[in-house]
Amino acid sequence: MKLRVLLSISVITTTLFLLSCEKTENDAVDLQSLPLPQLSSSLESYDDIDDLSRNPFFRGIPGGQQIDITDAGATLGRVLFYDPRLSINNRISCGSCHSQKHGFADPRQFSEGFAGKITSRNAMSIANPSANNHFFWDSRVSRIEELALEPVRNHIEMGMEKMDDLVLKLNNTSYYSELFHNAFSSEEISPEKIASALSQFMCSLISVDSRMDQGLNNGFANFSELERLGQELFFGQKAMCGSCHSSGNFSAPDFPGGGYSQPDVQGTANIGLQLVYTDNGKHEGQFKIPSLRNIGVSAPYMHDGRFKTLEEVVEHYDNGIALHKNLDSKFRTNDGARKLNLSAIEKLALVAFLNTLTDEKFLNDERYSDPFKY
Ligand code: HEC
Ligand code: HEC
Repeated sequence: MKLRVLLSISVITTTLFLLSCEKTENDAVDLQSLPLPQLSSSLESYDDIDDLSRNPFFRGIPGGQQIDITDAGATLGRVLFYDPRLSINNRISCGSCHSQKHGFADPRQFSEGFAGKITSRNAMSIANPSANNHFFWDSRVSRIEELALEPVRNHIEMGMEKMDDLVLKLNNTSYYSELFHNAFSSEEISPEKIASALSQFMCSLISVDSRMDQGLNNGFANFSELERLGQELFFGQKAMCGSCHSSGNFSAPDFPGGGYSQPDVQGTANIGLQLVYTDNGKHEGQFKIPSLRNIGVSAPYMHDGRFKTLEEVVEHYDNGIALHKNLDSKFRTNDGARKLNLSAIEKLALVAFLNTLTDEKFLNDERYSDPFKY
């Protein structure tokens, strides 16, 4: 008898113990405790967002993402972008890894997913994706609608493998029927509509008001001497940065025949970070030539977040390039990897120029901010 009581007590305690373990492991967030997003009408207008084609830097560039953005579509996309319900255990939203004040990049070297596992790459910034045809560090996706659900399904990032489960969860969330109705004239929720709304929000993330953009309109009268020296170096033959980081986004030119020496590399290059890569990117150490917009606030840098500061990045290009077998021809000389031989002032100048790409208006635009007030 005594034994049976003891046994059942131990069964109960083990069960309780297991239950409590399970709870901490999943760390499920109580859906009811997540408040409604606050969308005051003044924040819903994406109408006055500068059309990229109005910026001289982007004019005349064909290609890019051809998607129609409506206020209601981008508004729904904003809510989805910041809603942790998009992860299997309601812990992680897109905004957990793409932080507005860091140019929608992650300030951590690697990001933490829904179950505490870390991503193998650094989460990059997002700005003007509509002028981009290659996404992710290995340029594996070309349409933004295709990209949008990938992080949701990803087993490390959000773990929502079955789209039906996501649709069910959003159907059970009070505010979505109205948001979907406003955006698509029907309350019905589908993975395609989720992808479309997320894409509309992302394509409304337009950054065209950095000091560099302002300089375009005033002959760079707003630049200091150091910044002007940096600009000359960036676009000149000595540092050659602009030969890869080009076009309106300071990334690979995303238009047909956009100056690629090898059309098959899809906007990627090898910059000799090391001799042997553990992550091979698109192909043998070739990675996407990323946009440098808001680069001053989107540290750490490179696909593996190896550099903490822009000074370290410039130091790499100046004298740290490894003679990888795929090293881009721009970094090769007859006898090895090129050294830029920049003076101390020139290095400072390059960093100063890179910092002119920070767009404070973009980083503080409420329409891009988290609508959930905790
Ligand atoms: C757990 C962290 C995490 C979450 C959550 C996350 N991302 Fe990302 N994101 C990353 C990482 C890491 C990369 C780079 C991955 C790669 O290159 O393979 C990335 C890359 C991207 C890019 C590519 C940008 C470019 O210029 O190539 C976009 C766009 C993006 N994410 C959008 C989203 C959206 C939309 C969501 C939500 C549905 C989301 N992300 C959720 C970590 C995250
Ligand atoms: C041959 C093309 C090429 C040239 C020239 C080039 N870059 Fe890059 N840049 C890249 C590629 C590719 C990456 C990403 C590499 C990786 O992560 O493996 C990169 C990454 C960067 C990053 C980090 C971006 C981020 O979001 O993490 C910065 C900053 C940068 N480059 C600045 C410069 C500067 C400054 C110069 C001139 C001194 C320069 N680049 C010249 C191709 C180039």
